[in-house]
Amino acid sequence: MIVLGIETSCDETGVGLVQDGRLVDHVVAKQDIHAKYGGVVPELASRQHIKKIYPALDTLLNKTGISLEEIDGIAVTRGPGLIGPLMVGSLFGRGLAVALQKPFVNVNHLFGHIVSVFFSEKKLEFPFIVLLASGGHTMLILYWDIFKPQVLGETLDDAAGEAFDKAAVLLGLPYPGGPHIDKLAQQGASAKYSLPRPQIPGFDFSYSGLKTAFRYLVEDISRQGLDKLEAEKPHLAAAIQKAIIDHLFDKIEKAVEEYGLKRVAIVGGVAANSYFRKRLQEKEAEGWETAAPPLPLCVDNGAMIAMAGWLKLKNGITSPLDEPPTPRLPLNEYL
Ligand code: KG4
Ligand code: ZN
Repeated sequence: MIVLGIETSCDETGVGLVQDGRLVDHVVAKQDIHAKYGGVVPELASRQHIKKIYPALDTLLNKTGISLEEIDGIAVTRGPGLIGPLMVGSLFGRGLAVALQKPFVNVNHLFGHIVSVFFSEKKLEFPFIVLLASGGHTMLILYWDIFKPQVLGETLDDAAGEAFDKAAVLLGLPYPGGPHIDKLAQQGASAKYSLPRPQIPGFDFSYSGLKTAFRYLVEDISRQGLDKLEAEKPHLAAAIQKAIIDHLFDKIEKAVEEYGLKRVAIVGGVAANSYFRKRLQEKEAEGWETAAPPLPLCVDNGAMIAMAGWLKLKNGITSPLDEPPTPRLPLNEYL
């Protein structure tokens, strides 16, 4: 079965094809227009999706040699996300489903991120722990079975990716800042500056205190001159990166211990972070089994929606054509 996935929840126009649980290929059209605003402008994102969605699909079909008629089902992100962008993808997908007379299924974006782990070459047996960290969400999940993710904890304020992005703004780096911090940090020494580690009970996360501490630190260094700040940027990037990832690891390790489970996957945009991936990999020496999606499938993409759609359609789950997209969609209420 070949499933087309369509992702338009934020500022990436993503289309992907999955055949029998395997990636065929995917195309992500990036929207550079937001960089100069330092964040995603929803109205501009909607217009960009309208412009880019058909060319993205056309490119994908040309690349793969698969025709529209060969597609067996259409999966679309229903939410959570920005409502305008979601509506573009949703209407486009439903239009295709009607025109091609193929089954249609809505997908929770968060479920899409979770099942992106199945694109990893490493296969983990259920149950396993999943840390989902993106620009909008940070969640620790106990993943019992395909349709049984149990949320153990989530962020009480900023998401991990948001913490990267806000720290990047303070360092004068372009949006989205996560990949820029990742790169800059490779030339820095994280130990040069100490930052507080959030102390949150249970499996929840919090990044607001760390964000404030980092702002004070950067302001303090700026007062010593702009040259000084410029010279310190790699060390500052390394320090904030380590603090953000340490907090994620604290909770992962706590779950590994409490549930006696040494199988851990990381997904979402922050799972593309090279330091995070290295730290996870190192845990294999302690007997952990770990997995992460290939880099391009960590950030928003249509392939993960195709994977989720394939899983749903294969299990006989479809959606009515009048089920609308919605900006808020909790994982535990709708997959
Ligand atoms: O999953 P995603 O594409 O979108 C959401 O669903 O939010 O995640 C985007 C987030 C952004 O905050 C971006 O800065 C972060 O993932 N990100 C990274 C890296 N690549 C993307 N953060 C740290 N290091 C990276 N290499
Ligand atoms: Zn996402």
